[in-house]
Amino acid sequence: MGKGWQGKAIHGFRETEIAQWSEASREILQRVRDTAFLPGMSQLSLVHVLDLDKSGYIKPHVDSVKFCGCTIAGLSLLSSCVMRLVSEQNPEDWMDLLLPRRSLYILRGTARYEFTHEILKDEESFFDGQKIPRERRISVICRNLPAPT
Ligand code: OGA
Ligand code: MN
Repeated sequence: MGKGWQGKAIHGFRETEIAQWSEASREILQRVRDTAFLPGMSQLSLVHVLDLDKSGYIKPHVDSVKFCGCTIAGLSLLSSCVMRLVSEQNPEDWMDLLLPRRSLYILRGTARYEFTHEILKDEESFFDGQKIPRERRISVICRNLPAPT
């Protein structure tokens, strides 16, 4: 999140955090937030924007529990991709999710804390035996804050 805490996990990318959005974008982000978060959950006001180039990918990781809370909501733009979830406890327990371009995914609970997530590189980007070509992909990610300890 601009702090480099996931930097080693991500290859072939640029990223930024955006606070000021156009009116049209604000409306879309509000729909994402209303879908992903319950009223009263304190959310990070900065939105994370990750721009993966065609050869970029994200290695398996769990988002920092220190910097973000129980819910991660991401819009995939420009390119479809495959997100793989792998159980940390039992790596044989895994699943692939097809993230079509312009779709929203929400990771929370078990998927957020007990499974790593990754975005497959173009060469490995298959879903149900079908190639899912990876082009440049921009993701727009909203997170909430960890519960105060
Ligand atoms: C991350 C991440 C996924 C995405 O930045 O921690 O997992 O959809 N991003 O880009
Ligand atoms: Mn992540």
